Amino acid sequence: MIEYRNLRVAILGGGSVGSQVAHLLLEQGAELAQRAGAGLEVVGIAVRNLDAQRDTALPKELFTTDAESLILGADIVVELIGGIEPARTYILQALHSGADVITANKAVLANHGPELFEAAEQVGAQLYYEAAVGGAIPIIRPLRDSLAGDRVSRILGIVNGTTNFILDRMDTEGDTLEGALAEATRLGYAEADPTADVEGFDAAQKAAILASLAFHTTVPLDAVHREGMTTVTHEQVLAARKAGYVVKLLAICERITDADGVEGVSARVHPALVPLSHPLAAVHGANNAVFVEAEAAGSLMFYGAGAGGIQTASAVLGDVVSAARRHVAGGPGVAESTHANLPVLPMASVTTRYQITLTVLDEPGVLAAIATLFSDRGVSVEGVSQTVRDDAAATLVIITHEASESALAATVEALATTPVVSAVVSVLRVEGL
Ligand code: NDP
Ligand code: HSE
Repeated sequence: MIEYRNLRVAILGGGSVGSQVAHLLLEQGAELAQRAGAGLEVVGIAVRNLDAQRDTALPKELFTTDAESLILGADIVVELIGGIEPARTYILQALHSGADVITANKAVLANHGPELFEAAEQVGAQLYYEAAVGGAIPIIRPLRDSLAGDRVSRILGIVNGTTNFILDRMDTEGDTLEGALAEATRLGYAEADPTADVEGFDAAQKAAILASLAFHTTVPLDAVHREGMTTVTHEQVLAARKAGYVVKLLAICERITDADGVEGVSARVHPALVPLSHPLAAVHGANNAVFVEAEAAGSLMFYGAGAGGIQTASAVLGDVVSAARRHVAGGPGVAESTHANLPVLPMASVTTRYQITLTVLDEPGVLAAIATLFSDRGVSVEGVSQTVRDDAAATLVIITHEASESALAATVEALATTPVVSAVVSVLRVEGL
């Protein structure tokens, strides 16, 4: 029988994820010790309310409201409280005391990542965060380790389960946004305030984390362009399917070169049309998927449960085992790499393709007039389809070649004030072609 050194694990938060992490650590301790090369002793679980109902039965004596005492003397601190404070302060306290820290907290990382990574580097500790993006899906370690020898050019991610669930229900069951959101909330996918999901704040935090990691560059949260999905209508979803697309809320992180030849990165979150032939179109329900394009590896896709207590606990436990192995091996933690330090370019520098739906007068010369508005602003049209209605009007659906956001915005502005155009019905970006 091998005698393992014991590592003290403090868990901060005993909610959906924290209670499952504690349960699995207690239940599978012996097996995890063999994988980690060290015993993993749960020294306590810090919570707010000692009498709150827990998802799993856990020994009462492990619970405490004194998080700070728990942190002192721990080798590994697992932060599963969520939000900014006191999570940020506890992570810093743990790192300063020399502990490795594991967090699933996208909010604290997207808002305070550089401060936390610097604190870890100063003391030679490591901050692990596999569960912060994509729940159970391994995506942080593949980007940091497996693809460390490659150059990531683009990430297209469905990183919010709630919005994918809503858009999927609108597409496959004809549900309304409100009805599907109520169901997502009932099933426990949505954040406490679902505005974070439907307005894209949650996905933007995850985009900032992915872009920083993939491009070795600090991408601040306020540099992520964000549009929510509350403006997506049932009609748009139906029209998209008819045209061979699905609507998805995407987090897109890219290396780009702007019109002046400046090379940089961009990160954005918005609803987009995805061709039915693209692997992301087959991501249903509350699942997440991250599609990575790298120069040498080509296209890779990481898929699975983006949320859920036990699913997220799987990713957290993987980090606990990694941290334990590092303790056993000794030496400093691996610092977060920001060596490329590329400029983060604004949304106006992004180029992509667009689908514009217009209601126009059904008269001679209308198509030519509209085509001129596009070409005058340097936007090349790839295809047009027209449906004649019975009220002397027609619906035009125009797909463009790649164009800059600024050229497209100028074109849409011109369309909106042209007499032959009765209405600009919708403008959606097309991704993944
Ligand atoms: P919960 O709200 O279920 O649990 C939060 C826990 O933190 C509760 O046990 C709460 O105590 C405790 N807590 C809150 N404030 C304090 C405080 N000041 N001091 C001590 N304890 C405190 O959150 P989740 O488990 O759902 O999420 C945890 C983290 O995991 C978050 O960062 C979240 O973003 C992330 N995550 C969650 C996923 C999910 O599916 N749930 C998926 C991916 C990531 P009490 O129980 O007494 O109220
Ligand atoms: N509310 C989030 C989602 C939970 O729907 O994906 C996981 O971060």
